[in-house]
Amino acid sequence: MEKTLVLIKPDAMVKHLAGNIISELYNLDLKMIGLKLVNVRRELAEQHYFDVEERHGKDILKKLIKHITGELHNNENVIAIVYEGEDAIQKVRNLAGKTNPEEAEPNTIRGRYGRVYSKTDCFENLIHASDSKESAEREISLWFDKGELV
Ligand code: PPS
Repeated sequence: MEKTLVLIKPDAMVKHLAGNIISELYNLDLKMIGLKLVNVRRELAEQHYFDVEERHGKDILKKLIKHITGELHNNENVIAIVYEGEDAIQKVRNLAGKTNPEEAEPNTIRGRYGRVYSKTDCFENLIHASDSKESAEREISLWFDKGELV
């Protein structure tokens, strides 16, 4: 069965959107097999976004690290969730919508609630969702110990 990692990011937490996002994820009919609240340290953020500098440059990586560690949002935490089910990765990616909230369809999480933070040009895109089986496996082992998954 396919697994995927979802991170509900600090922008969603400050906007009190975690409940809405989780209830939309319920509609995908996937099984939740791990969930925790994480105060994201810089080291974890750097490991999670290990390839962003190469793909998007240093500036984006810096913004992304400030975002995921809560520095841009009152030091808010992240809710990390692992879902399991058929086609879990694509189902969650479809619901999340395009990376840039301004390009995301209105019936997606990012389209409905996301925005571009004008001061920094940072995408406040609310959730992270693994983009492939390989990424999901790597990310899940970074965020969860085996014993934390049920
Ligand atoms: S995606 O959605 O995973 O396919 O996006 P990707 O192109 O792989 O981008 C990797 C992460 O970089 C984030 N990103 C940005 N964040 C803030 N501001 C800007 N301008 C920006 N550009 C790219 C993008 O959201 C991805 O992080 P996650 O956590 O997966 O959303």
